[in-house]
Amino acid sequence: MMKVIFLLSAALLASAHEDCTHGRLFVSDADSTTVHVIDLNESLENLAPESSLNVPGKAGINLKATGSMKEVAAMYRGDETVGFTDGVVSFFDAGVSAILHGDHYDIAYRAPSMIENAGFECARVTHYTPHADKIALFCDGTYGDEAVGIDQENSTVWVIDETKFGDPSESALVFNMTLQGSHHGVAIAVDDDHILYSLATPDRIARTPGIGETEALPSTFVIEDFEGNAIHSLDDTNDPSKSCLGFHGEWAQDNQFALGCDDNHGGILRVDYNPSTETYSSFAVSYPDGFEGHRTGTFAGHSEAEHIAANFAVSGGASNLLAFTTDDSQITENMVLPLPVRQCAFAYEKGSADHILVFLPTGSFHVFEYHDDTWEEKVNVQVVDGMTQCSEALFVAGFGQAFVLVKESRVIHAIDLDHADHGRVEISTSTLDFTPFDAVVAGVPTEVACELEGHEHEHSGSAVFTYHVSFYLLLASLILFQPMV
Ligand SMILES: *[C@@H]1O[C@H](CO)[C@@H](O)[C@H](O)[C@H]1NC(C)=O
Ligand SMILES: *[C@@H]1O[C@H](CO)[C@@H](O)[C@H](O)[C@H]1NC(C)=O
Ligand SMILES: *[C@@H]1O[C@H](CO)[C@@H](O)[C@H](O)[C@H]1NC(C)=O
Repeated sequence: MMKVIFLLSAALLASAHEDCTHGRLFVSDADSTTVHVIDLNESLENLAPESSLNVPGKAGINLKATGSMKEVAAMYRGDETVGFTDGVVSFFDAGVSAILHGDHYDIAYRAPSMIENAGFECARVTHYTPHADKIALFCDGTYGDEAVGIDQENSTVWVIDETKFGDPSESALVFNMTLQGSHHGVAIAVDDDHILYSLATPDRIARTPGIGETEALPSTFVIEDFEGNAIHSLDDTNDPSKSCLGFHGEWAQDNQFALGCDDNHGGILRVDYNPSTETYSSFAVSYPDGFEGHRTGTFAGHSEAEHIAANFAVSGGASNLLAFTTDDSQITENMVLPLPVRQCAFAYEKGSADHILVFLPTGSFHVFEYHDDTWEEKVNVQVVDGMTQCSEALFVAGFGQAFVLVKESRVIHAIDLDHADHGRVEISTSTLDFTPFDAVVAGVPTEVACELEGHEHEHSGSAVFTYHVSFYLLLASLILFQPMV
């Protein structure tokens, strides 16, 4: 009898394992162009690279996942001493796919491989925005300085169509353009033919001495079709619903957009696109009173999340997070969560999107839930002892997992979030044999993405799991109780 139950549990565990994946952790090497690949589909203990690949560029590769979570962008921003002109962007397949097999998905693993039809060269790639199966990349360029022999390098905008990755007959690069002048800007691919992007200030473009070099941030935006025809402008700097002064940070999901603006603007600019009429509307989401000098510079979103999270801080001063919905037209004080110190990173847990993960420069890790207009702290745990600044470690959110990679010691702290709801996390520690530069989780097709254990939302993966549990429990009770009847 024990044997039967044991076999049943083994079958149960095996089936649970195959139902979902946590993907892979990709880690770039600080001293080379190697990206190391760590499988997350088994235990978090003794994490070690299984394979690696080389990407174009030089040491110092930044990594981002594509919107589908099936590929990774590897980005070298360029060397400052040559005006970032040697910058390069490439994409590789993360090597995990979901294969439909009757009523369920099988997960197939293969070695990651470069995608041949999507790379390009650009100076200082910074903002990277997935939306509508596309990724818009904004390369800031360089203001330039004659005194040291560095020319102006204009900003450029690039759109990659994720559905065209690996297509031998055409390029996945579906749009690119060169802007006037350089600035630290943003682009969002609205759909197959519309692009929203920021413009440098007139003094920046004209290189007005004493002003041009200081005005690195945009204040106006335009939406054009891919042929360059103007569709909509966000350029009335007297109207907070039609401009975004001191922009830094964007959010884009399902034809709704948010741009983070400074305290002079006084809020977040929300933009909505109506695809049936191909028209735009926009409105300001005002910041609350009593937060002098605060601005939003970074957003965190998730397709399943009920809120958009954002930071809200004074440069060099107080730091907060806030959460709002796409219906909100103002931020109220209860939406604001004060932090003891400015965060290094914050992100939604990717599997279930119910928790906002925060990593602080003191080395502490926090899990928050925001519901009914209240922030609730679920977890507060010290992960890295003796840490004092963000530059010492990388923080990466995964699916029911999170990772802290400490650069100097090369230690990975892998955090299992399955019991975060009950205030508990399990942390496993491993050591790498290289110094990490950047890291990201990818290789998680939506159909087979792991959620937090015991998560209540309906999901194809967990539905299959529940089915297996009840089936085996029924079978077990039948076998167990039969002799007693
Ligand atoms: C985890 O991924 C590796 C390939 O990267 C594969 O060999 C292994 O079978 C996978 N394990 C499970 C439990 O799926
Ligand atoms: C678009 O990209 C191609 C390939 O890199 C380049 O040759 C071309 O000059 C670019 N066009 C613009 C307008 O930037
Ligand atoms: C670069 O920007 C300047 C304005 O600052 C403009 O005159 C020039 O034509 C731009 N170069 C390209 C290649 O578009």
